[in-house]
Amino acid sequence: MRHLPPIIFGLLGVARIMNDATESAAPPAASQSLLRKLFAVHAVVAPERAGAERLKQALSVWALMAIGIGATIGTGIFVLTGTVAANQSGPAITISLAIAAFGSGLAALCYAEFAAFLPVPGSAYSYTYATLGEVVAWFIGWNLLLEYGISASAVAVSWSAYVASLLSGWGIHLPAMWINAPIQQNAAGHLVATGAIMNLPAVLVVLALSALCYVGIQETARVTNFMVVLKVAVILVVVVAGLKFISSSNWHPYVPPNTGTFGHFGWTGVLQGAGIIFFSYVGFDTASTTALEARNPQRDLPLGIIGTLIISTVLYVAMAAVVTGMVPYFKLNVADPVSVALNAHPALSWLRSLVTLGTIIGMTSVILTSILGQPRILLSMADDGLLPPVMSRCHPRFKTPHVSTAITGVIAALIAGVFPLDVLADLISIGILLAFAVVCIGVLVMRHTRPDVPRPFRVPWAWVLCPLGAAVCLGMTYFLSDATWIRLVVWTFIGGAIYVFYGFRHSKQRA
Ligand code: ALA
Repeated sequence: MRHLPPIIFGLLGVARIMNDATESAAPPAASQSLLRKLFAVHAVVAPERAGAERLKQALSVWALMAIGIGATIGTGIFVLTGTVAANQSGPAITISLAIAAFGSGLAALCYAEFAAFLPVPGSAYSYTYATLGEVVAWFIGWNLLLEYGISASAVAVSWSAYVASLLSGWGIHLPAMWINAPIQQNAAGHLVATGAIMNLPAVLVVLALSALCYVGIQETARVTNFMVVLKVAVILVVVVAGLKFISSSNWHPYVPPNTGTFGHFGWTGVLQGAGIIFFSYVGFDTASTTALEARNPQRDLPLGIIGTLIISTVLYVAMAAVVTGMVPYFKLNVADPVSVALNAHPALSWLRSLVTLGTIIGMTSVILTSILGQPRILLSMADDGLLPPVMSRCHPRFKTPHVSTAITGVIAALIAGVFPLDVLADLISIGILLAFAVVCIGVLVMRHTRPDVPRPFRVPWAWVLCPLGAAVCLGMTYFLSDATWIRLVVWTFIGGAIYVFYGFRHSKQRA
């Protein structure tokens, strides 16, 4: 099943280009074929930015970068760095991070090209609609729900665990039945009841941050800026303070020998580590969902997207190098690896509460920006008629997509309150990796179908870098578990049913 995506996406790109060639060679038939309806492409609307007056254009390049960094730096750097070093890559976690950054970087260049000439809030959904057609766009939009909506819920579940443990360190013990999911996955993969009522802190944080997104983009951007400054400062303090405590013996061997199991150290471990740590880069594309709220999207979105990725990569590699230099990598298989590294050096124990604070703030900004991105994608889909029009309604005073924000908030809160983390986290990476691959292919398709559209930013060596980006992203999906693939198929069927019964009939593009 996992061999299918590269074949399907490659064929889609070729089919689209051939379809375009046929259309220009012969006059369109009187009755459109079903296939042509399904692959109808959206007009390129830039630079007019249709519907921009519904929202407030308040975001500068720094605000866009803060949204990107706010969405990107979260659980990954503070938690996954340690577990991937301990289980897959060893000190070569830095190489895994660099490989994941390479794949994300190629996708970031493609996002930057699209965001600059198609500054609409639908992000990968809208780019796909303009290149590969409606049905593929629906599939990508439906998968972006995983990236943004489910990501908010998944990170809220981690957030709740961190806050509960922080409070318990202060002697405040929250009742277990209110801080755990009522269901969990057992060893056989079945969902079973735990006896808990709901994960209340996770519900509350999602609702509170949704309320912030509801009342304004400027307010949301201000809070995001504040959190980004704090979490970046925490990472820099840990890196600088930890430098003195690096022992080069902890970096030998840099790539620990493979244990005989695929993905368990050695170079296969480094590659599998890259697939898992890719989660840390999820979110750099969030700024593209605020395209209609940017002051100068054509100049600032490419800077915001690429700047986010460069800053995150530098911070991640520095943090991972310092942490694996401070303690042997095999001691890092814990939920708080940075604290373990600090505990190993009593002179640094004062930094522990700062790291806990940085982790909680990092997670909060990821939840906030996920809730910010999701309604804007729904707004684009509703604008196109693929979802009910109520989803694109904007508040006359707050100038936010308030209905879809409220719907996103309530659903994300319910999911956060009921499901455990592992069930949610699996689905996120696969959805976004497929979206990245499609965006990379889309750039090439658009270069072929619309060479005339002015492009404020162009991917250099596109005919090499775009296929490479798609290949690296699809390659990383190969390392995800079978259960994740099965869940993706189930998710696609649910989305497919909604498209058949609603989206297909109401599509404005074909009307
Ligand atoms: N990249 C985000 C994180 O690491 C999703 O939490």
